[in-house]
Amino acid sequence: MSIELQPLTRHIGARMTGVDARKPLTPAEVAAIEAAMDRYAVLVLPGQDITDEQQLAFSHNFGPLEEGANSGARDAELRLPVVFADVSNLDKEGRVTARDNKKRMAGLANRLWHTDASFRVVPARYSILSGRVVTTEGGNTEFADMRAAYDALDTRTKTEIEDLVCEHSLIYSRGQLGFTEFLPDERVAMKPVRQRLVRTHPVTGRKSLFLASHIGTIVGWPQPEAMAFIRDLIEHATQSEFVYSHRWTQFDLVMWDNRTTMHRVRRFDDLNVVRDMRRTTTRSDSPTADQEAA
Ligand code: OGA
Ligand code: MN
Repeated sequence: MSIELQPLTRHIGARMTGVDARKPLTPAEVAAIEAAMDRYAVLVLPGQDITDEQQLAFSHNFGPLEEGANSGARDAELRLPVVFADVSNLDKEGRVTARDNKKRMAGLANRLWHTDASFRVVPARYSILSGRVVTTEGGNTEFADMRAAYDALDTRTKTEIEDLVCEHSLIYSRGQLGFTEFLPDERVAMKPVRQRLVRTHPVTGRKSLFLASHIGTIVGWPQPEAMAFIRDLIEHATQSEFVYSHRWTQFDLVMWDNRTTMHRVRRFDDLNVVRDMRRTTTRSDSPTADQEAA
C-alpha cells in the first residue's frame, strides 16, 4: 500500500494513509513519516486500532521515549505504564475521575496552549496520541503552527526576540488556573528550566516560536513585562490562520512535532463522558539553552 498525504490547512497538518502502525515500520516508512512531519508538523493517521505494545513499538522509531509525564502521580496511582502520558479522564479503576480528582486538576492545564515537556531540559520531539475512546461533542485537539507564526512577525520583533530565553515549569501553567498546591518534592521536580524563545528546526532550518503556557518569565526581564509580552506572542501565534482543529474519530493516531507547534484540548463533558487518550512522547536531541549555573 502506498503512502498518501492530504494537507488539512494552508500551513499545518496532513492526513496520512498507507501506513499500518500495528506492524514494524520499514526504514522507508520511518523516513516518509519524518519527512511529512518536517513539512506538516501534525499528522493524522486514521484507523489505527493499536494496543499499548504496538503504540510503544511505533513510537520507538522516532527517538528515546519520555517517561514520567504523569507528574504528581505516584506510580501506584497510575492506570498505564509510566512511558504513557495518560491523558484520559479515567482513574486507576477505569472510572471517570471525580470533579476534585488530582489527576483531573492537572489535566485541565491541557486546555491551555502548550508544547509537551518544554519544562524539561531536553524537551520533547514528537508526541503520539492514540484515540481509544473519543468524544462526539467537544474534546477537539487544536494545533498551532509556530513556524508560520514566526514568519508572520515583523522584522523588529524578530530581531528583538532572536536571543531571548524563557523559563518553563508546570508550576506556571498550573498556577494560571489557580492550581497551586504542590508538595515540597513536586516543587523540586518542577524547578524551572530554560528554553530559547526562537528555535531553528535541525532538518528544515526553519525558525519557530517556542511558546507554551509553561512559560513563567523571560530571563533578565521583569516578570510582569515578560508575561504581558508572552501573552501577546501566544495570541499572535494562535490566530485561526495558523491553527488546525482536530475532531477525533476512534482509532485516530495523531502525531505532532513539539519543536514547531503548540496544542490544546477543548472542553467537553468530562464528568460524564469517557475520553481515553494515550500519549507516547519522544525526546529531542539536546537542550535549547544553557541552564543557569547551580
Ligand atoms: C497531550 C495533550 C490533548 C488532548 O496529550 O499532550 O495535551 O486532546 N492532549 O487530550
Ligand atoms: Mn499536551
